[in-house]
Amino acid sequence: MKPMIRLSHRLADLMPSPTLAIAAKAAEMKAKGQPVISLSAGEPDFDTPEPIRKAARLAMESGQTRYTPSEGNRSLREAIRDKFETDNQLHYPLDSILVAPGAKYALHALAQCLLNPGDRAVIVAPYWVSYPDIIRLSGAECTVLKTEAREHYRLDLEALDRALEPPSRLFILNSPCNPTGVQCRRAELESIGAVLRRHPQVVIATDDLYESILWSEEPFTNLPMVCPDLRGRCVVVNGVSKTYAMTGWRIGYAAGPKELIGAMSDFQSHTISSANSIAQAAAVAALRSTPALIAGMVHAYHERHDYLAPELKRLAGVEVTPADGTFYLFADCRTFLKEAPSVRDDLTLASEILEHAGVAVVPGSAFGAPGHLRLSYATELSTLKQAMERIQQFWISRTRLGA
Ligand SMILES: Cc1ncc(COP(=O)(O)O)c(C=O)c1O
Repeated sequence: MKPMIRLSHRLADLMPSPTLAIAAKAAEMKAKGQPVISLSAGEPDFDTPEPIRKAARLAMESGQTRYTPSEGNRSLREAIRDKFETDNQLHYPLDSILVAPGAKYALHALAQCLLNPGDRAVIVAPYWVSYPDIIRLSGAECTVLKTEAREHYRLDLEALDRALEPPSRLFILNSPCNPTGVQCRRAELESIGAVLRRHPQVVIATDDLYESILWSEEPFTNLPMVCPDLRGRCVVVNGVSKTYAMTGWRIGYAAGPKELIGAMSDFQSHTISSANSIAQAAAVAALRSTPALIAGMVHAYHERHDYLAPELKRLAGVEVTPADGTFYLFADCRTFLKEAPSVRDDLTLASEILEHAGVAVVPGSAFGAPGHLRLSYATELSTLKQAMERIQQFWISRTRLGA
């Protein structure tokens, strides 16, 4: 008899990622020998810099191959502490710092340690794809606050104030943002901080993963930097994945109130034991390196951005807010979709761009913003130019159809 496998209720609520369908289709086309260009990757196209790889080799050869403390090796937590002091003027004792296997897991541990069924977490759309599911896995529900490009993705503070009422227990802010690439400026952080002051039961998570991939005039800031009085309930989440082209190494970190970080460490001790010991040694080398190590990569993303943003704007019915950093641009295609009725929505649009232009992009619905597309420029400039030529051809064909 065929065994009956019944999945848990928690998983029943998990949303399959709309990006998977595109990725599967792109893989199928590639397997058939079709020349697909992917602008869907959420990771740098560069190799991890050699000094970081060398530190990993040394760690392996010197026997750093055992379990580490669940909160992470002391040497890495010291490097993280020093990074916060130097870059952010934030001072954390070592027992307020946690090393996790990626920022994603740090956020998962946070949600698991903080939220109960019946609680709510407030997130801002367009949001990073995993927030809703990380929250749902904890049994809590999401409140999504929508923001719009025409308002430079600024939060409606009255809506925020209402959303933060109990049973809200967590607020997540990501700047510079995946998928828009837009940075939350100091003045805006100050006004958000003023609203948060009225809701002392809310823990604030600031997702700073793209902190160092930034070219705006205003330097990076986050809520605990701008509002020191809120530090006691802020958890800063960061990692080495994007900055140092280390997505596969799986090292992220979190810093915040000692009791919460301690609980997250206990949670890790029973779920993953610890982050990988060799990757931790590599992350020390990354965090102790000088900014020169990543300057070339950031310059390349910036250059590609400056090519791609105006090219996207030239497409009929498309609007794009220039990014302050990251390696993404978020194209608002709602006018195009209205005028080209042969394409129903962003999911169909992404699928048709893949099928007819051979370019993989991510539909905005994945980020809680239907009618948009996310294009990643973690791809060489020459490939990016080829992709844009194909998209432009596709666009012209569809606009004619729609006319
Ligand atoms: C905004 C944001 N936060 C967190 C993560 C998780 O990064 P990692 O788990 O690789 O550290 C990502 C990765 O795409 C991201 O874009």
